[in-house]
This record gives sequence, C-alpha cells and structure tokens, in this order.
Amino acid sequence: MLKKLKELEDQSRQSIAGVNNLAELKEIKVKLLGKKGALTALLRSLGTVAPEERPGLGREANILREELERVIELKESSLRDLVKAGQWEQERIDVTLPGRPIDSGQKHPLTIIIEEIKEIFYGLGFQVAYGPDIESDYYNFEALNIPADHPARDMQDSFYLNPQLLLRTHTSPVQIRVMEKLAPNLPVRIIAPGKVYRRDDDATHSPMFHQVEGLVVDRDITFADLKGTLLLFAREMFGSDQKIRLRPSYFPFTEPSAEVDILCVMCGGKGCRVCSNTGWLEILGSGMVHPRVLEVSGYNPREVTGFAFGMGVERIAMLKYGVSDLRLFFSNDLRFLKQFG
Ligand code: PHE
Repeated sequence: MLKKLKELEDQSRQSIAGVNNLAELKEIKVKLLGKKGALTALLRSLGTVAPEERPGLGREANILREELERVIELKESSLRDLVKAGQWEQERIDVTLPGRPIDSGQKHPLTIIIEEIKEIFYGLGFQVAYGPDIESDYYNFEALNIPADHPARDMQDSFYLNPQLLLRTHTSPVQIRVMEKLAPNLPVRIIAPGKVYRRDDDATHSPMFHQVEGLVVDRDITFADLKGTLLLFAREMFGSDQKIRLRPSYFPFTEPSAEVDILCVMCGGKGCRVCSNTGWLEILGSGMVHPRVLEVSGYNPREVTGFAFGMGVERIAMLKYGVSDLRLFFSNDLRFLKQFG
C-alpha cells in the first residue's frame, strides 16, 4: 500500500510537470483527487489492509493529497503567468518609435493676406472696423450717393434678400456706419476688412470674395495723402521698389476717383499674359470722399475732407502668391492650402 502511494506520487508529479495548458491540468486534477480519482480509490482500499496499519497509511495518504494539491496550484499559477506573458508580448509597444506627426491646421492664405494688410495699416495709425454682411439698401447704395436708378446698381449685380436688404456688394457701407458713429469727432482713420457678394462666378470672379475698405477723414486731407498712403501700402505689400499708377476713374461716392495699379509682379512692367501686355495690374479703387457722403454721415464737407479706397483681397493674394485661379481659395483642397504655412 505504501509502495502504491509512492508510485502514485511519482506518477502524478511527472504528469503535472509535463502539462502545458490549464485545461489539461484540470483534467489531471480530477483524475487524481476527484471523487472517482486515483487517490480516492486508494483511500477506499484502506479497508483491505491490517487495522493497525490503517492510521499510518491514512495519514500518509492525506499528506500526499495536500502535497499534490499544492503542486497543482503552483503549476496552475505558473501556467497563468505564461498566458499573461503571451498577451503582453502581443500588446508590446516600442516606446522608442518616433510618434505619428500631428496634422496641425494653418492659416488660410486669405487670412494671412488680411492680417498683413491690417499690420501695414496699424503702422499708419488706422483702426479696424467691421460691418454686417447683410446690409440695407440705404448703407450699401443710398448713403453712398448711388440713387435708385443709378447704373452702378446694375454694375453690381446684387443678391437681394428682400427689397430693402441685400448681401453687401462692397465694404464701402462700413464707411457710412463708422462716420455716423464717430461724427463730429476727428480724425477718422479706419480699415474695414470683410466678405462681399456679387452675382459672378468664373476663374477670376467668385460670388463671395473679400475686400478691405479704407477711410480717412480729417481737416486738410488731400489727394496727396491718398497717393502717399497707397504707395506706402504697395511697397510694404509687394516690395520696397514697387511702383503704383493712378488712373482716373468713377465711383459715385468719391470725387475725384482713381483706380490704382501696381507694376506687374510677373513681368516687372515689360508686359505679359497676366497684365494683358499693359505692364500694370489693378489692385484697388479709391478717391476723395464725395461731399454728399460726408454730409449724410454727419460731417461738414466745408470743414473736413477725406479719402477712401477699397481693395480686393483675393486679387492681392493671387498676385502675391502667383495663383491663377481664384476658385482655389474656396475649394479647400489641402494640397493647395498646405503651401501657405
Ligand atoms: N467700393 C468700390 C468697389 O467695390 C471700391 C472703392 C472703395 C472705390 C472706396 C472708391 C472708394 O469697387
């Protein structure tokens, strides 16, 4: 009997040591220690040995049971550790690998240009003013000396919301709003960046685009102030040797009026496709504020004068960056936008 116990112990230890997964171990445990297991069977056969040997053998058998339980438990925990280690191996992260670059956003080219324009005029003592995109007929046309039957209203094909309200066709209504607010204080020295809307859509015209309006009102403001200011602007924007040219023009809200050209940035004035062989490129409209415009806004045109201008932001951006299709600014193709860091 003692020999049988010893045999069972050796056998069991061996098979437990040889197991390499939890399911098999559980099977072995049942076969050894379960109700119908080998050790249980041995204990049952105690009845067949001499009565005086029974207590000793019983003790031995119980010691063996405890011993086997301990061995199985140890094996079980080491198998569990192995499983865990396998999982960790799969989830392993190489912390020395370089990180994935964060795809950061950046400023839109038009935002960059508008900020540049602002900076230039801040340096000249201008402040920034804003007006609404949805404008009344009064501010967009009437107060700017553009009467109901004036051809300028056809020139600027507008988006009307109702007979009195429209999407502003230019930033000039901000002139009126600012003067109304400030009058009779002097000086008025503002720029007004913003979106404007016209019924246009092709490679050089978008139904929505951007302008920056400028307005200066004070005593003794002359056309020379207008010219000097815009020349300085052009040099800051396009280079210190940039030249400008003023051409007589017409706007109902300025008198006299002038369109301002810069020397063609592509050919330097020699004449090319971009400037239609003229050597010059138009960048803005301007003029001395019309006396009637001063008057409706609360200023006395016999005491003060002023100049105003309105520039096209997309046009300046196209010239500065050499972009030939205006629609690129609005199609939001990242391959295009990412070039302006
Ligand atoms: N508002 C004019 C336009 O949209 C530009 C302009 C502004 C002209 C101010 C003169 C003075 O074309």
